[in-house]
Amino acid sequence: MQDDLNPPVSRHKVRLAIFASGGGSNALKIIEYFRSPASPAIVALVVCNKPVAGVNQVAGNFNIPVLLIERDRFFHGNAYTDVLASTKIDLIVLAGFLWKIPDLLIDAYPRRIVNIHPALLPGFGGKGMYGDHVHSAVLAAGEKESGITIHYVDGHYDSGDIIFQARCPVLATDSPASLAQRVHQLEHTHFPKVIGELAEKLDF
Ligand code: GRF
Repeated sequence: MQDDLNPPVSRHKVRLAIFASGGGSNALKIIEYFRSPASPAIVALVVCNKPVAGVNQVAGNFNIPVLLIERDRFFHGNAYTDVLASTKIDLIVLAGFLWKIPDLLIDAYPRRIVNIHPALLPGFGGKGMYGDHVHSAVLAAGEKESGITIHYVDGHYDSGDIIFQARCPVLATDSPASLAQRVHQLEHTHFPKVIGELAEKLDF
């Protein structure tokens, strides 16, 4: 209850950076979700390693600045930690970002970098397991279920602590493309909400 002895704690909105290098359908859902004035976070920056990726257009449509990054500075320089700090980024969201996150960046954002993976980890993860490679492997293994995993990022591919999973059926008639579509739907439904819950719990 609010009274003179317990004034409301004022929190600034959590400032998100979305790292993406693909079409950006998850980035779009996240941007839309956090446009509401009452939401606990805002998307302050999109970080991308491909000048022609669709996600750049998505960001442009919402006037969100895009930071185009280069391999050398990311892996062998300061990993853009200076830009992230000056943009006051609190939480990093990987939404289809394929480069491995360097230790320097993980150390700068401990348990503040989350990734979404289009399968039920710990299965079907690791180096080279992205996009249709994942869905083809799920089909080849004869799995009856697949889904999504949202997890913290550590120094290895797809291995950080799991925050959230959701499941969907794998149908006998599925192709990698049809399964990918079902999994994408799950991502769009859950990823923004899970980020919102994390933002609300973040300690500043
Ligand atoms: C998603 O399937 C996500 O799980 C994976 O990359 C894909 C990105 O898709 N990490 P989009 O660019 O957001 O459409």
